[in-house]
Amino acid sequence: ADDRISRISSSIRVIPDFPKPGILFQDITTLLLDPKAFKDTIDLFVERYKDKNINVVAGVEARGFIFGPPIALAIGAKFVPMRKPKKLPGEVISEEYSLEYGTDKMEMHVGAVQPGERAIIVDDLIATGGTLNAAIRLLERVEVTVVECACVIELPELKGRDKLGNKPLFVLVSSA
Ligand code: PRP
Ligand code: MG
Repeated sequence: ADDRISRISSSIRVIPDFPKPGILFQDITTLLLDPKAFKDTIDLFVERYKDKNINVVAGVEARGFIFGPPIALAIGAKFVPMRKPKKLPGEVISEEYSLEYGTDKMEMHVGAVQPGERAIIVDDLIATGGTLNAAIRLLERVEVTVVECACVIELPELKGRDKLGNKPLFVLVSSA
């Protein structure tokens, strides 16, 4: 697995001062341009979750929509989009979370998941953990078991992991 991890890691482009000064942006679009790195990324998640009775892969808009669906297809789970506000046409439940300035909302369709189902939540990256925390709250409100959160990249110095309570977090790459 280690050579796969190093290929994934080196395929991620780091861009200083984007979107603003002082931020080191982790750009996964370059990972997507390397078919082997992209496939290895999906395979590593699939190997981890295929025999864990996962019914639901919840993906967080927008970049969780890139990694979540291929995992869902490979493990035979449904894909549930967690969207930015006012995008979903049906009845939704929503949770607020904080951004650097102000708050945002995340929404999920009522009826997309059923009580007792087992979910993983997929996103590209965990920074402060606010996004994944909101996704966990959404699923737990409707009595779905969140088995684990899965991200390609963690920024460990932001301690987002601490915001997930007792929820396990699985990441492929840790970034300074
Ligand atoms: C980024 C990233 C994660 C989130 C992590 O998404 O894709 O979803 O931030 O940050 P946090 O751990 O501090 O909550 P962003 O909200 O920038 O939007 P995008 O995925 O639509 O580009
Ligand atoms: Mg995002």
